[in-house]
Amino acid sequence: MSLITWTQERFATKVAQHDDEHKELFDLLNNLHAKVGVGERNSIGVALDSLIAFVAKHFASEEKNMSQVNYQEFKQHKEEHDSLVKLCLNLQAEFHAGLTQINEQTTMYLRDWLIRHIPSVDFKYAPALAAGGIK
Ligand SMILES: [Fe+2]
Ligand SMILES: [Fe+2]
Repeated sequence: MSLITWTQERFATKVAQHDDEHKELFDLLNNLHAKVGVGERNSIGVALDSLIAFVAKHFASEEKNMSQVNYQEFKQHKEEHDSLVKLCLNLQAEFHAGLTQINEQTTMYLRDWLIRHIPSVDFKYAPALAAGGIK
């Protein structure tokens, strides 16, 4: 069973580009969660790397759009992104150094972060982005 499912009601920001990226993020997180279930270290590493690369790409994409329209809450939003990226990069380095495991606690933490961040933080940029012509 999937760890997280994108639905219009819960997760639509109304910015098509970012909705598509969120769907991709959910797919990559579900993939990592499935690999954790199997327990094979190499494929967990590959899934982890893909997810983290896409997290960075998605955050950069939101930040580019927010700064383009001089979004007022850019700074606070970027701080949330930066703290998750820092956590992910530490986790990734420790995992590849054999110092830590990726388990269901990790994937559930990431799921909970997304479940909170998208509706409470991402949703707020929609009017500013729309006013700036980004939909
Ligand atoms: Fe987002
Ligand atoms: Fe965000």
